Amino acid sequence: MLIKRPTDIPPSEITSKEVYQNRRRFMQATAGLALAPLFGKAWAGYGNPALSFTKNNTLSTSESMTDYKDVTHYNNYYEFGTDKYSPAENAQALTTDPWSVEIAGEVEKPGKYTLEDILKPYPLEERIYRHRCVEGWSMVIPWVGFPLADLIKRFQPTSRAKYVRFTTLLRPKEMVGQNRGVLEWPYKEGLRMDEAMHPLTLLSVGLYGEVMPKQNGAPIRLVVPWKYGFKSIKAIVKIEFVEQQPVSTWEAAIPSEYGFYSNVNPHVDHPRWSQARERRIGEFLKRKTLMFNGYEDQVAQLYKGMDLRKYF
Ligand code: MTE
Repeated sequence: MLIKRPTDIPPSEITSKEVYQNRRRFMQATAGLALAPLFGKAWAGYGNPALSFTKNNTLSTSESMTDYKDVTHYNNYYEFGTDKYSPAENAQALTTDPWSVEIAGEVEKPGKYTLEDILKPYPLEERIYRHRCVEGWSMVIPWVGFPLADLIKRFQPTSRAKYVRFTTLLRPKEMVGQNRGVLEWPYKEGLRMDEAMHPLTLLSVGLYGEVMPKQNGAPIRLVVPWKYGFKSIKAIVKIEFVEQQPVSTWEAAIPSEYGFYSNVNPHVDHPRWSQARERRIGEFLKRKTLMFNGYEDQVAQLYKGMDLRKYF
C-alpha cells in the first residue's frame, strides 16, 4: 500500500488456473466427500486439514470465486514482505499451534484463552464474500468462520466499550518483515462496536473448506467485507474493548490516506488514485466498484447522517 500504483498479477502467474481447478475437483471427488458426510461441503484442498461447516447462502455472493492459487499466492501481509508473492513463502515459518487470544479492556470476562477455547462454542459457516483491496484489486473468497458478534456477546463488554481493537502477533523471529520499520509493529486495527456486532463481520479460521493458509492470516483473522482489505487483520492475538476510537496501523502510518472507517467507496478517491473501478483478479477488464463493496443494503444504516468524505 506504500506502492504508488496498484500492481496486477502478470499473465504468467494466472495460467495455472486449470491445473488447480482440476485438482480441486479431484480432491472433492475423493477425500473431501468422505470427510464431509454431515456438514455440507468440505474438501481436502491442497494440504491443510478440511473443516466441517455449513454454507451460509443468504450472506454469500453467487459471483465466481477467485482461483485458490490466486487467493493464496497474491497476498498483502507486510509481516512477511511488502510484495504480493513473499507471504506465500515466508509465512510458512510461522508457528500457529499453540495459539492464544487475549480478551482485554472493558469486558466482564477478560483473560488469555487458547484458540481451542475461543473456537469451542461456535459452529463454522462458509461465506463467500467480495474482498476489495484499497490498491484497486478484488477477489471473491469462500471464507470459513463464525460471527464476531457471537464472541463479543460471550465475553460481555461493559457499557463503556465503544470500539474493538485487534492486535496481530509480534514475533520478529518468525515474521521476517517485523525486522524492518515499514510499519509500526504489531499491526493493529479497530472497529466501532456496531460494526463489530454486524452479522457480516466474521472471524475466519479457513478458506476454500480448509484450515486457513498461513499467508491468509492463520490461525484466526478478521473479515469485514464492506471495508477495504486492510481492516481485515490477520493472525490475531488480542481483542480489546475500548472507550476511545483506536488508531489503526495504516492510519498511524499515513493519516491523510487511510482513515479509521475505510469503507469501500467509489465516490471518494484515495489521494493518489481513483477508487471508482477495480480489477477482479483473474479477469482482464476492470469493473465498477460498488458502494460498500456491494453490501450497501446491509450496512448503509450504520453510517446514516455521516459525511463519508470526512469519515473516510
Ligand atoms: N494483517 C496483518 N497483520 N498484516 C498485513 O500486512 N494486510 C491487510 C490485511 N490484513 C495485512 C493484514 C491488507 S492490505 C489486505 S488487502 C488483506 O489483509 C489481504 O488479505 P489476503 O492476503 O487474505 O487477501
